[in-house]
Amino acid sequence: MNGPVPVEVLKQHLIDPEICIRCNTCEETCPVDAITHDENNYVVRADTCNGCMACISPCPTGAIDSWREVIKAEAYSLEDQFGWDELPSQNDSLAGLAGAVAGIGEAGKSGTESVSDAPALGGSDMVRGSVVPPWSAAKPYVNLYNHKAPIQATVVGNYRLTDTSAESDIHHIVLDFGKLPFPVLEGQSIGILPPGTTQDGRAHHARQYSIASPRDGERPGYNNLALTVKRVTHDHQGREAGGVCSNYLCDLQKGDVVNVMGPFGGTFLMPNHPDSHLLMICTGTGAAPMRAMTEYRRRRRLKGATGKLMLFFGARTQGELPYFGPLLNLPKDFIDTNLAFSRTPGQAKRYVQDAMRERAADVAALLRHDDTFVYVCGLKGMEDGVLQSLQVIAADAGLDWSALWQRLKTEGRLHLETY
Ligand code: FAD
Ligand code: A2P
Repeated sequence: MNGPVPVEVLKQHLIDPEICIRCNTCEETCPVDAITHDENNYVVRADTCNGCMACISPCPTGAIDSWREVIKAEAYSLEDQFGWDELPSQNDSLAGLAGAVAGIGEAGKSGTESVSDAPALGGSDMVRGSVVPPWSAAKPYVNLYNHKAPIQATVVGNYRLTDTSAESDIHHIVLDFGKLPFPVLEGQSIGILPPGTTQDGRAHHARQYSIASPRDGERPGYNNLALTVKRVTHDHQGREAGGVCSNYLCDLQKGDVVNVMGPFGGTFLMPNHPDSHLLMICTGTGAAPMRAMTEYRRRRRLKGATGKLMLFFGARTQGELPYFGPLLNLPKDFIDTNLAFSRTPGQAKRYVQDAMRERAADVAALLRHDDTFVYVCGLKGMEDGVLQSLQVIAADAGLDWSALWQRLKTEGRLHLETY
């Protein structure tokens, strides 16, 4: 006699569209390509996700850590998820029954890397940087404000950083939070909610921007922070495209009020022990977190911080490099600054990774040190090149890069943020 057919219940992995800031981190992190997106939402393929949790910890907002127990045969399709403005509620009769995907839980229970140990570059199926912060990092506040309840900041400054003749229009924008709490650390980012709607009438989603000032304020003791924003006028293929949020930000006037989410980020943080060394590599607006860390160290140096700072900074030309003047004014015994320009007329194209190789002996000396923390921020395209340079420099210095890379990651000493 046949008994009742058992119903298989699945703990389905979903992404909360109300919190997600569409930063693409999850899609890039997923080792099995289970995550995809359309114009509206980031979504998870129920038949591909294996519950490895690799995406949970890197997600800056926690939107990725969403689960619903469903009858497996009736799992939400991609089309269902693309159409959502909010997550569906849990069917109470199924809650707690899921057994099909073992060991999946909430909120970053598995914060560790689901990573292969392979040293070779190139695989999008591995986490290349740390998913843990430096041991001495201060504890960050995250997700204090979301898109349903953003905080209002007032614009107290908006200045163009790049030469008027430069092609890139990069702005230094200072936001003040008045008496409302918005505690941040260097390396964190915030979400900006641009006003208005998309062509199909949906509210614009938030865009993420790195904080360019130290924890104690752009102006020390003030409840404010700066952003470094590049006006997007063309898409990645070079076609004309007015970026929604970057244009909104670059056009803000003093006194305007902006809706802000965040803060975000719990791993790309600086070490707090004053003798730690910072190796910082950036291009363009990737300078923002490096400026925050450098300025914090400069303020602490006065209080006895002794660690070394080495910076590699790439831009098209000198005029396109944000913070060029202030950077060069920093004392040479405080920060070892190396600039790489790719489009200076009459000069050979130079990228940050070229500059790193030219300074191989000093980079290697830093890599040998257990107290060195490496930060890479800026163009996505530079990540491969920078990691390859580190590999070559380490190998030439007789260091086992594969082992070192693994240690840097495990010890929260290699942080990559490219976009
Ligand atoms: P959209 O309206 O979203 O895009 C318009 C078109 O331009 C689209 O076709 C899009 O594909 C393309 N596009 C998007 N971004 C770029 C780009 N950078 N170059 C060329 N084409 C592009 N940006 C900063 O300026 N400063 C920062 O400090 C900063 N920090 C970031 C930190 C993180 C963690 C992440 C994920 C992103 C960061 N960004 C930063 C990028 C920022 O979030 C936006 O993606 C960027 O400002 C473009 O948004 P938009 O609304 O203007 O363009
Ligand atoms: P390029 O002249 O080849 O575009 P952007 O101004 O677009 O933000 O870029 C900042 C700098 O990063 C530019 O000098 C740019 O050079 C450079 N760059 C572009 N691709 C790479 C890469 N793969 N590795 C390192 N730097 C890069």
